[in-house]
Amino acid sequence: MVQGSPFVVVANRLPVDEVSDDTPAARTTGGRRWRPSPGGLVTALHPVLVEHSGTWIGWSGSPGPAPEPFEVDGIKLVPVTLTHDDVERYYEGQSNSTIWPLYHDAVEPPIYRRRWRDAYREVNRRYAKAAAEVAAPGATVWIQDYQLQLVPAMLREMRPDLLIGFFLHIPFPPIELFMQQPQRTEVLRGLLGADLVGFQQRLAAQNFLRLAKHLLGTPYSGNVLEYEGRKVKADAFPISIDVGEMQRLADNPLVRERALKIRSELGDPKTVILGVDRLDYTKGIEHRLKAFRELLADGKLSVPESVMVQVATPSRERVEHYQALRVKVEREVGRINGDFGRVGVPAVHYLHQSYSRSELAALYCAADVMMVTPLRDGMNLVAKEYVAARAEHGGALVLSEFAGAAGELRQAFLCNPHDLDGVKEALMRAVNVDPHEARRRMSVMQRHLRRHDVAAWASDFLQTLAEIGNTTEIRA
Ligand code: ADP
Ligand code: G6P
Repeated sequence: MVQGSPFVVVANRLPVDEVSDDTPAARTTGGRRWRPSPGGLVTALHPVLVEHSGTWIGWSGSPGPAPEPFEVDGIKLVPVTLTHDDVERYYEGQSNSTIWPLYHDAVEPPIYRRRWRDAYREVNRRYAKAAAEVAAPGATVWIQDYQLQLVPAMLREMRPDLLIGFFLHIPFPPIELFMQQPQRTEVLRGLLGADLVGFQQRLAAQNFLRLAKHLLGTPYSGNVLEYEGRKVKADAFPISIDVGEMQRLADNPLVRERALKIRSELGDPKTVILGVDRLDYTKGIEHRLKAFRELLADGKLSVPESVMVQVATPSRERVEHYQALRVKVEREVGRINGDFGRVGVPAVHYLHQSYSRSELAALYCAADVMMVTPLRDGMNLVAKEYVAARAEHGGALVLSEFAGAAGELRQAFLCNPHDLDGVKEALMRAVNVDPHEARRRMSVMQRHLRRHDVAAWASDFLQTLAEIGNTTEIRA
């Protein structure tokens, strides 16, 4: 058992997933096979934990008894058990069929089930207990994301000596949407168990402060709430990426060579348009494909001068919304290729696979235009990765106004993904941008990212948390 850690991160998932087959990018530790787990949370937090040599509590990605604690890249990993029922009710149900769609503007209808709620509570308690066991006296515990919103209050009750931070990686909805949740008061009280609640955007922090006032009558001044004799701060901390890592990858001669190879395998088109997303209905993949199809039909783009590569990482594959999305996306890809492709020359290259960081970097280097068009996204790290990978090589980013990243990457070609004509127009502007102008835009965004990388994000959050710790009178 790992004991007495001064810095503990609690997230639904560990940064690695246990795998049974010989998947690419898998590594072996203590006789078990692992590979990096999907999503932006892990991409962002992995380098932070390596730097702080902390303990990470989470699930290994497979149902059944948790493996013994082990270490990867100097991070102590403490696995939590999720049974088949827990996976179905807490993870696929409450987390990903209720909360995920609700917090993303209800772009798919959230589903409410009592037994999912009960499982969510029970599993949250399990994570809180695991944290209470491994945290040293007075330790800092940083709880992550929508799957664990009840953990802050549960942990505070078990261990009032701890300094507790919570960060929500996804949007926090306006009051009207949040109020749909049958367990709304419990969730709010859960979050208020933290000393600091962090969000991607200022608007989300405002939603939270207003909600606390509306639902519990909790007074606030500035961004500090007075709750049960404690101060709880809510603020925005826009997450970022390890910019140095992406730049190093993109500068690596092997990656550059691979990028050229990718372009030649695509038939050396004039314009490579790229999308990289988890196969998730919030990402606007269908809208983007449709915009591409209409531009081909209008004759504004043509194959083989322009090709699209859409990487769609498998995600939450047992959840119905995701199964339906996969069918829709694959049907659209088939339709475009049927109408506009030729033997050996598809219009859309669709890849339903996971890749290594270096292969992703090569794809970014190979792409003239990157399309990031979510209907709603807390941040979207892919947009930041593309910018970081472009060095002085230009390239153009088409970015949805509804991605958190749009608040920072203002030199992107911004669009409203619901407005198909707007997406088409932004894509054409990106395709036809003057190379000098493209480099100018890219370098402004790169300068921003270099100053606001993931290390700055973590230290900003943790410093704010530590300051609260120093000023709070009621800690044991
Ligand atoms: P989300 O967290 O919703 O998945 P983000 O864009 O914030 O969205 O983060 C996605 C992360 O997953 C990025 O770091 C990206 O590089 C990574 N990623 C996306 N697709 C793949 C893939 N096919 N293989 C490996 N990593 C991927
Ligand atoms: C988003 C969420 C993360 C989640 C990731 C991957 O980034 O904010 O909490 O880990 O997607 O999703 P998954 O369900 O596979 O963990």
